[in-house]
Amino acid sequence: MMQQHPNYQIINVDSLTYAGNLENLKSIENNPNYTFSKTDITDAQAVDTLFRQGVDVVVNFAAESHVDRSILEPEVFVKTNVLGTQVLLDAAKKYGVTKFVQVSTDEVYGTLGETGLFTEETPLTPNSPYSASKAGGDLLVRAYHETFGLPINITRCSNNYGPYQFPEKLIPLIISRALSDQALPIYGDGLNIRDWLYVEDHCSAIDLVIHQGRIGEVYNIGGNNERTNLHIVKTILQELNKPEALMTYVKDRLGHDRRYGIDPTKITQELGWKPKHHFETGIKETIQWYLNNKEWWSRIQSGEYQDYSTKQYGDRLGDSL
Ligand code: TYD
Repeated sequence: MMQQHPNYQIINVDSLTYAGNLENLKSIENNPNYTFSKTDITDAQAVDTLFRQGVDVVVNFAAESHVDRSILEPEVFVKTNVLGTQVLLDAAKKYGVTKFVQVSTDEVYGTLGETGLFTEETPLTPNSPYSASKAGGDLLVRAYHETFGLPINITRCSNNYGPYQFPEKLIPLIISRALSDQALPIYGDGLNIRDWLYVEDHCSAIDLVIHQGRIGEVYNIGGNNERTNLHIVKTILQELNKPEALMTYVKDRLGHDRRYGIDPTKITQELGWKPKHHFETGIKETIQWYLNNKEWWSRIQSGEYQDYSTKQYGDRLGDSL
């Protein structure tokens, strides 16, 4: 946003829980058009103080986002993703913002069989505590539009990948563990399908929705890149020249969605959005980024991450952890 719109004043609000990392934004921290506020979006008073400065547009990226954590600890997901969204909506309503964009996920649509794609009309049937909490937030956003006339959009994107992704998510998890010659946990048969999108293509879609999205509309975002988890893991191993023997089939995730696939027709036709990155080159660039930034992810893999990793993979991987 700072590159595309150098005159915008941006306030970055984050409560800096385990995945938040100010180091990621070092390159802009001294820019006079940028401020950072360590604020929890469930803290209504703190949020009110922020809005009092004058805010035109809200983009709500704030979320607990990892499905496996939501299975271990659902409460914090409801707090941040539902209650936090409601607090932001109340402030947006009180101070009269011109646009509230809710960054959501395709996971609110549940799971697909072998055919078909998620459209904006697909019913919401979330299967995990994470996706249920995101669906709850989305429904509140919709309701604030219907009830109070708040100018909103909701975006629902497929799985993101790219630099700076926290190493609990599949792609950075596999890259970092493979580089350390650790066992690579494959849930179930490894044939679950995700639809992958390079993070900057997601950003360009959100930028378009902020400026051109029709009020009250939902936009699905995806680049037609469906891949099985096995394909992803094998691609990474090949690129890193590591043996497939590292792949370890482990107990499946509870309620594991089989397939996600986005129909992006609406955003492409209505707003002219087009992804710039092809999966084959995007994944190579991402692997290279993790190779070049080993220090970044090594530092993150201490403390809280170790505790989570033991809880999540200890029983599944046993000695090979
Ligand atoms: P993830 O990155 O957690 O994203 P999401 O669940 O939101 O789609 O997982 C992507 C896929 O990879 C999903 O099918 C679960 C699978 N997976 C594994 O097989 N092993 C792992 O250790 C992780 C984290 C995910």
